[in-house]
Amino acid sequence: MNDSDSLPAPVWRDGLEDDYAELTTRLEPLVPCLEWPLHLPWIDAINRLKRQRGAVIMAHSYQSPEIFHGVADVTGDSLGLAQAAADCDAELIVLCGVHFMAESAKILAPHKTVLIPDLEAGCSLASSITADDVRALRARHPGVPVVSYANTSAAVKAESDAICTSANAVQVVEAMGAGRVIFLPDEFLGRHVASQTRVQLVLWHGHCEVHETFTAQQARHARERFDAKLVAHPECPPEVLAEADFVGSTTAMGNWLEREQPARVALITECSMADNLRVRFPATQFIKPCNLCPHMQRITLPGIYAALRDFKHAIEIPADIADRARAALQRMLAVGRRETV
Ligand code: 13P
Ligand code: SF4
Repeated sequence: MNDSDSLPAPVWRDGLEDDYAELTTRLEPLVPCLEWPLHLPWIDAINRLKRQRGAVIMAHSYQSPEIFHGVADVTGDSLGLAQAAADCDAELIVLCGVHFMAESAKILAPHKTVLIPDLEAGCSLASSITADDVRALRARHPGVPVVSYANTSAAVKAESDAICTSANAVQVVEAMGAGRVIFLPDEFLGRHVASQTRVQLVLWHGHCEVHETFTAQQARHARERFDAKLVAHPECPPEVLAEADFVGSTTAMGNWLEREQPARVALITECSMADNLRVRFPATQFIKPCNLCPHMQRITLPGIYAALRDFKHAIEIPADIADRARAALQRMLAVGRRETV
């Protein structure tokens, strides 16, 4: 149970429906009207407290629609959120995503307070490797540079030469200027990167517990049964990616839809992604999987309210780890920064 579960819900006030008419109309295809009496008092209370505190709420693409559309000031993929944290003017950031994302924000904005509403919001990739594992890999492959995926702990980032996200992994690997690179921890992302570069990659065996469950058969079924284009996240197994019309980060998926405007699309990724994109592309029919990331789902409206009210849970990282991890993250931003977030 979250410690915010026992928080008394803010009360409904007159005029709430009118104040949020634009939001409820825009989200009509996603959020049934019966749910609004549950969400709106929280959304309103969060938006008021956020203004009082001068906070910025950043939400990852996998956050549920009432968070993504209702309270977030900044939304995006891991790269977009990291860049936004580095560029942020506000003194207080509430990161609605998983722990490694909040750590990256704190590392890149060390003098700001970064809060995550639930400290237990982890990631199977981040927990697949430790700093000791990275040191052991370096000992086995002396002189080979280490590129770590953003989905790692601050301690692992501190042992790395550079960080990448799914949006810039090939660029970052090639920028290392080496014939071989240790790439960790996502084996499937690593194999996807290896298929696009001449750099030889030493891989680790980490997997995303959400994306590893997709199969090529499911992908083919979506294409054949629904005549849908297939858009997949590179954390999926290679045989799934082989079926896809487009492979990219969560922000890149939205950009692809913007360009291609397909009549039907199956998003082979976490399912809140389709919800959030459906609002942006009303003419496209989305075939969405039901794979939810249990870690992303730990972030709730009551949890965000409690975070803002009680300034919890503040991310703290020992200075020596944060400094080395920052150097690796800044190396990524120097190479693979996106022009517009
Ligand atoms: P993106 O960087 O594409 O948003 O992906 C992060 C993630 O955790 C996907 O599972
Ligand atoms: Fe981690 Fe997978 Fe969840 Fe992304 S979807 S945060 S990679 S467990």
